[in-house]
Amino acid sequence: MSFEKNAAQAREEVEVILARTLPPADTFPPGLHQAMRYTIEAGGKRLRPLLALWVGELVGAESRVIEPMAAVVELIHNCSLILDDLPCMDDGFRRHGKPALHLAFDESTALLAAEGLLMLAFEVLGEAIAASTLKPKDAGELLSLFGSTLGSSGMIGGQQVDLQMVQSRVDIQVMEYRHSRKTGSLFHLAVKGPALIGQASSESIQALEVYAKNLGLAYQIADDLLEQTPSTASSEDKAARRKAPTFVDLCGREEAVQLHRQLVTTAEQSLSAFGPAARRLIEFAQAIGERVP
Ligand code: IPE
Ligand code: IPE
Ligand code: MG
Ligand code: MG
Repeated sequence: MSFEKNAAQAREEVEVILARTLPPADTFPPGLHQAMRYTIEAGGKRLRPLLALWVGELVGAESRVIEPMAAVVELIHNCSLILDDLPCMDDGFRRHGKPALHLAFDESTALLAAEGLLMLAFEVLGEAIAASTLKPKDAGELLSLFGSTLGSSGMIGGQQVDLQMVQSRVDIQVMEYRHSRKTGSLFHLAVKGPALIGQASSESIQALEVYAKNLGLAYQIADDLLEQTPSTASSEDKAARRKAPTFVDLCGREEAVQLHRQLVTTAEQSLSAFGPAARRLIEFAQAIGERVP
């Protein structure tokens, strides 16, 4: 209950940050900025920016330093969803209750809007660094984290494995790679990015990384479990129709539920050294735990 109350409050803050971050819809050239706003304004749970804000709070960072990081992760997330819904990927036709961007506009606008969001994230990341007192070495580490999170050994690599999964032979290592990259990478950036920019100690960063790793995997396994249940399945796209194997197919429901619980518990325990200050992040993990009944 407490998570929902805190999340609702933080989401309002996130909406304000995003609204002022995106260029107005009528900014030249026509259609492009409208498309970028269409995607962001369609909504979503805003989980990654919530993580960013709460990690910032935990490490005692000022909001002017952390708010841009919260925007960065949601911009990237939306970029990934636009691309994921394209006909050559999952061929998704609805997203957040509205037609997918390439259907509401067209494919070329969707591609450019995705790139526009990604480049905006890059621009905003620069603002976050400029607002901070980071040393050049740490600023470099943050930029490198941004690239590795999204790159061919991060989210993009995870998406490649995801798309090829039907043809390839699936084993637990491949499945874990896919989940930890396609979903976990961005959770990692949402947690480690604010910790770096808030100049947290290396011990704190290490603990937060364990939290993010376990949480990201737990989140995706929960998604797999929910997709298996007709009443909670949300995908209407090609990925669902082609029946890309999930963690549940590989290990069975019982083992997946058990692993999910274990990951959530490890995430919670990883923050024990922070004491009550980590309450919001622990409640976040518990909420991911409660997604699976
Ligand atoms: C959807 O993520 C894609 C996955 C990584 C499973 P979310 O469920 O967090 O996306 P929103 O809330 O719809 O934006
Ligand atoms: C969405 O993944 C894209 C990324 C995680 C990068 P999915 O294809 O699993 O999610 P949905 O079902 O379209 O939301
Ligand atoms: Mg996909
Ligand atoms: Mg998809």
